[in-house]
Amino acid sequence: MQGCAYNTGMSPVPNPAASPVPPRVALVTGANRGIGFEIARQLSRAGLQVLVGSRTLTRGRAAARLLAEQGLAVEAVRLDVTDAEQVRALAREAKTRFGGIDVLVNNAGVLLDPRGGGVLDSRPAAYERTLTTNLFGPLRLVQALLPGMVDRGYGRIVNLSSGLGQLSEMGSGTPAYRISKAALNALTCTVAADTRGTGVLVNSMCPGWVRTDMGGPDAPRTVEQGADTALWLATLPDDGPTGGFFRDRQPIAW
Ligand SMILES: NC(=O)c1ccc[n+]([C@@H]2O[C@H](COP(=O)([O-])OP(=O)(O)OC[C@H]3O[C@@H](n4cnc5c(N)ncnc54)[C@H](OP(=O)(O)O)[C@@H]3O)[C@@H](O)[C@H]2O)c1
Repeated sequence: MQGCAYNTGMSPVPNPAASPVPPRVALVTGANRGIGFEIARQLSRAGLQVLVGSRTLTRGRAAARLLAEQGLAVEAVRLDVTDAEQVRALAREAKTRFGGIDVLVNNAGVLLDPRGGGVLDSRPAAYERTLTTNLFGPLRLVQALLPGMVDRGYGRIVNLSSGLGQLSEMGSGTPAYRISKAALNALTCTVAADTRGTGVLVNSMCPGWVRTDMGGPDAPRTVEQGADTALWLATLPDDGPTGGFFRDRQPIAW
């Protein structure tokens, strides 16, 4: 389990990500709505240069306009995380324009299982599409952006996982989603182990049950509450944790 161990160091060292010159560049996937939108808002408010990833540029630009009304300048970028060429193109453009992406928030996700069903009730296509978005999307982005982070000696990767992906509490229902988030957690652990000592910190988080299109209207938590741990992990000091799984800024079991 060494790959999943994390350092809990949280020093009062000033946060380099909040430094105005030059701002760190953050990409949030699926940021046109829901928790991703709020993460983009909070990162922009913290002084980072934020790219709002969106499957369609129209929706991304609408999100950017909403943030502009709050005095926050973000840029919408077209990014379907299941499209390998779009991921590569974005990585190339970010390298040319900014030298690379410093902070990657893998937020985009889907929940396609039928409500209340077990393993037999979700169709094979639902498993494939869920893993394509929730696991292979983040993996693609890591493969495209991590080399630049390691070269520059700085990177923060935040993977939006879920309590439904906890192996220690694995239950029935939403099987494709659960499997995808457990696998995403494994990705977090292995990338964290690969990058130990490089300046790149890689963590998973659960936002809790949040009122969004995915979470539904009965969820108890606001997007602000759900996004807070992502903000913290995206702006960790250099001696912050890596290879951990967090909710409300506290470690939780895998
Ligand atoms: N809400 C909760 O209670 C909860 C709990 C635990 C974990 N989470 C996780 O938190 C993250 C955000 O959830 P949410 O509640 O904000 O979900 P949401 O309201 O359904 O929003 C999902 C976002 O992901 C985007 N997306 C989906 N597939 C994509 C793709 N292939 N490429 C790019 N973007 C894509 C959507 O874009 P479109 O607008 O184009 O569809 C949308 O912007 C997800 O990873 C989710 O699994 C949520």
